[in-house]
Amino acid sequence: MKEDYWTTFWRDHGANSRDADAQSQVLRTLAKQPIDEERWISTLGTVREEMRMKGGHRMLDLCCGNGLFTRHFARDCDRILAVDISPDLLRSLDELELDGVDSLQSDMRVVDFPEDTFDRILFYAAVQYLTPAETIQLFERMAVWLEPGGILYVGDVPDRTRLWNFFNNDERHATYFRNVRNGEAIVGTWFEPEWLRNLGLYAGFSQVRIIEQPDHMIYHDFRYEAVLTR
Ligand SMILES: C[S@@+](CC[C@H](N)C(=O)[O-])C[C@H]1O[C@@H](n2cnc3c(N)ncnc32)[C@H](O)[C@@H]1O
Repeated sequence: MKEDYWTTFWRDHGANSRDADAQSQVLRTLAKQPIDEERWISTLGTVREEMRMKGGHRMLDLCCGNGLFTRHFARDCDRILAVDISPDLLRSLDELELDGVDSLQSDMRVVDFPEDTFDRILFYAAVQYLTPAETIQLFERMAVWLEPGGILYVGDVPDRTRLWNFFNNDERHATYFRNVRNGEAIVGTWFEPEWLRNLGLYAGFSQVRIIEQPDHMIYHDFRYEAVLTR
């Protein structure tokens, strides 16, 4: 597969941000400042609750970055497989040597697993790096990897219906239109909530819940979360 814009972007960002704080390494920043600890703990709490973590899980953290979620969820899982394309980000997670956590460097567009391998999949802040066609293919595959009753959590999805909350002044409009005109990416792909819901049902999930992000999530004015039950 030819290396695309986002693959190059994240490989370079992973290598260049080795010495940055953990949240900046995965670009969870607002006005270039990393999310503060209080908001981050609340964010983890929301995801934990929505994923109905009970203990003993077999979890896939897809596009795990440096494993900021993996570290938090390790105690709830017998095993977590953390997958990312950036070797440098994965190295930060590997250095923690967490029990039950394995990492795999792979492209989400080609990675594959047998049927029913996991009962939880976390896919946080990464769907935007796929084209719509790649998103459909990945959702079809994730439905196979999850056992019946398992939960897929898709976090931080850029909301196509709230594009202008993000591109919210003349300068940003100009950046947006210049980038689209030139075929260059900024945030990545934006998804209407209804599109994602219908995709989930088409792909084999029995239930799809679209959740508004609570105020403590730093991108709540233009992103949402989705919880899909297999
Ligand atoms: C914004 S970060 C989110 C990291 C983590 N999920 C979190 O929320 O802390 C996006 C991650 O997606 C990874 N990524 C981007 N494209 C990818 C691909 N094609 N396959 C696997 N990982 C990819 C990047 O390397 C990066 O770690």
